[in-house]
Amino acid sequence: MAFRCPPFLFLSLEVRRKESYLWYMKYDKHVFICTNQRAEGARKSCGEACGMELVAEFKKILKAKNLKGRMRAQKAGCLDTCDYGPSVVVYPEGVFYGGVNTEDVKEIVEQHLINDKPVERLMINFNNENQPA
Ligand code: FES
Repeated sequence: MAFRCPPFLFLSLEVRRKESYLWYMKYDKHVFICTNQRAEGARKSCGEACGMELVAEFKKILKAKNLKGRMRAQKAGCLDTCDYGPSVVVYPEGVFYGGVNTEDVKEIVEQHLINDKPVERLMINFNNENQPA
């Protein structure tokens, strides 16, 4: 059975703002990108993959699209989804993305951040037993 996004994710931001707690959020979308870096020889981490490159790419695209101030992307420590990394989480939905690379950032910004449609192919499905624990 294919994984489907929860229906509330497809409601417009205006509707969600009126009908929920979102009125107090500072940003329409807040993106946290794992840049955790572990010691050499330790478990793999997003920082050694492309964490900082992802931060730079998100910031570049948000600025180019004049979204700075409405949306924010920032580095974060370990998101506890290391085996899926490089990992990114987008709030207010709390959608986790895994295996993200710099070529995916534009799609996440345009499809999810601007049009409220999460990029399903990159979403981590925590209910799928076949994905890493
Ligand atoms: S090191 Fe990135 S999620 Fe843990």
